[in-house]
Amino acid sequence: MFEKVNQIAQEVTAFAVNTKEQLEQFRILYTGRKGQIADLFDDIKNIPPEQRKAYGQEVNKLKEQALTKFSEAQEQLTETNPSSAPDIDFSLPPVPNTLGTRHPLSAVKAEIIRIFERLGFNLSEGPEIEDDWHNFTALNFPENHPARDMQDTFFVEGDKLLRTHTSSVQVRVMEHEQPPIRTLSPGRVYRNEAISARAHCVFHQIEGLFIDENVSFADLKQTLYYFVQEMFGKETQIRFRPSFFPFTEPSAEIDISCLICKGEGCNICKQTGWVEIGGSGMVDPEVLKNCRIDPEKYSGFAFGMGIERITMLKYQIKDLRLFTENDIRFLRQFESL
Ligand code: DAH
Repeated sequence: MFEKVNQIAQEVTAFAVNTKEQLEQFRILYTGRKGQIADLFDDIKNIPPEQRKAYGQEVNKLKEQALTKFSEAQEQLTETNPSSAPDIDFSLPPVPNTLGTRHPLSAVKAEIIRIFERLGFNLSEGPEIEDDWHNFTALNFPENHPARDMQDTFFVEGDKLLRTHTSSVQVRVMEHEQPPIRTLSPGRVYRNEAISARAHCVFHQIEGLFIDENVSFADLKQTLYYFVQEMFGKETQIRFRPSFFPFTEPSAEIDISCLICKGEGCNICKQTGWVEIGGSGMVDPEVLKNCRIDPEKYSGFAFGMGIERITMLKYQIKDLRLFTENDIRFLRQFESL
């Protein structure tokens, strides 16, 4: 019986443990619950009683020896090949530290704001989930105006809807402030449109509002003329085309001379030499009244422009969908903005 103990002791000493696999093999053969040392303990019942003590001591010694060998080998293996720490190759060239870039729409929005700030405009915001009053009624949209139609507007519930334009913020500002008011309201707007190269159901507008005593159409023209020159360059021309909006009277569409062909006529401007950037007009006295501003004392102008549109014109982007597709190759082009 003692021979078996000696034999296993020799095996334990001779067993080479240089890899994790060998360590596991060692555990299974000797120190594990079903290993040979456990068997030796089981054999104690076959030992004559007077020898049991000595046998037990021998087997215990062997067990200690095996366990020590096991833990030493285990320690050494994790030291030489620490699986928790990654292999580091100090000769590799460094990975460049890549910074994200500003989205072109954010950069253009910031530029528009900077230009109008120089004219004394501040910023205001309103909710994207609006009510009928701020989006339509206060802005003089008749009850049955087509813009209220389900086809254009996303209705939420009751009289709540996703705002279709940032003109709703005009109303909120005028309800809470008395003139002089000079404010700019950028934000997201929603319309029930099929997504294409030229249209999207979510886009961005920037609204301007200027209310004071004796504000005239000349102020509107000069303000937008200044903006256009700062934004698109000194040689850019501006023209106002008579139009209609329920909340302005008179109303005008704002066109700028085509940046591509400089007015000669090309595909972008559909051979007209002009491209539209937004709408504008003198705030309708009805709207002032709705917002508790005295139209006898005050007058003002408003304008609204599409931020996507301005960005597309400025950087000659032909497909609106590029703004939302997150294609890094597209976004990287605006790194310097
Ligand atoms: N809200 C208009 C739109 O979404 C744009 C607009 C036109 C805004 C004339 C104005 C304005 O402030 O005076 O089409």
